[in-house]
Amino acid sequence: MTGSNMCNQLMINSATRLYGVFGNPISHSMGPVMHTRAFREKGINAVYLAFRIDAIEKGLQAMREIGIQGASITIPFKESVIPFLDDIGEHAKEMGSVNTVVNKDGKLFGYSTDHKGAVEPLRRVTPLKDKDVCVLGAGGAAKAVAYGLKKEGALLTISNRSENKGKALADQMDARFVALDHVTGLNPDIIINTTSVGMMPDTDKSPVPARFFHESMIVFDIVYNPLMTRFLIDAKNAGCTIIDGLSMFVGQGAAQFELFTGVEAPVNLMRDAVLEEMTKS
Ligand code: ATR
Repeated sequence: MTGSNMCNQLMINSATRLYGVFGNPISHSMGPVMHTRAFREKGINAVYLAFRIDAIEKGLQAMREIGIQGASITIPFKESVIPFLDDIGEHAKEMGSVNTVVNKDGKLFGYSTDHKGAVEPLRRVTPLKDKDVCVLGAGGAAKAVAYGLKKEGALLTISNRSENKGKALADQMDARFVALDHVTGLNPDIIINTTSVGMMPDTDKSPVPARFFHESMIVFDIVYNPLMTRFLIDAKNAGCTIIDGLSMFVGQGAAQFELFTGVEAPVNLMRDAVLEEMTKS
């Protein structure tokens, strides 16, 4: 029986493997629909559930004790999880952030796939080496995006509202810093919004004015609530190539799925699963 023939069948039995996401809050997580759809498509006997926990060490203890095979780690535990792991991968170590834990015979290994989520959707549209890229924001998401782009050989500018945080990230990533107020003076090949500006409920807001965009730019917003932010609407109206925030979420999730299973992720199907769930709510 092929994976797609098994799509609608529940396969829970005593051999079903358990995966999940640890976070707080977690009630709006799209991880369960995305990963469960991928398991079914690939004919993998596993489920993925959302666990709201108050201390990450309890989640990891559960992984060891009841044999949870893998977990996504989300806000607020991506950094605090690190001391409780047996080992961490190179990218997670360099970023100081873990979004994936894999249980290998009782030993817990931490990885980060957030930078892949940022880079893969861009790589599908353009090579990144020597591209002039402006990253708006200097939080955890900006760090993952900047790290991924730096690894690809892009020329980075970090632009942030607060100078201290922006300069600190720029120094760490060998990037230039420009205050957000002065971003209109730039003309990058690619611009990526990692700030929360434009997110529900402030959907009329954008981190840059509409006149900033021109048609040769590639414009990426990691906000996916709403999917078409003001930033992306303005960019689209100017004729830019646009990439929405679901691409990053699905990209990091697809890389997690591959770490969990060793099987190539059905990326398009994972995106459809999240889109369906978003239109329900
Ligand atoms: P995340 O981990 O999702 O990146 P974060 O660490 O809270 O979240 O970072 C949020 C980013 O959005 C920061 O760069 C923040 O800018 P400051 O460092 O100046 O706080 C940026 N941000 C949030 N609200 C903003 C606003 N109204 N205007 C401009 N930047 C904003």
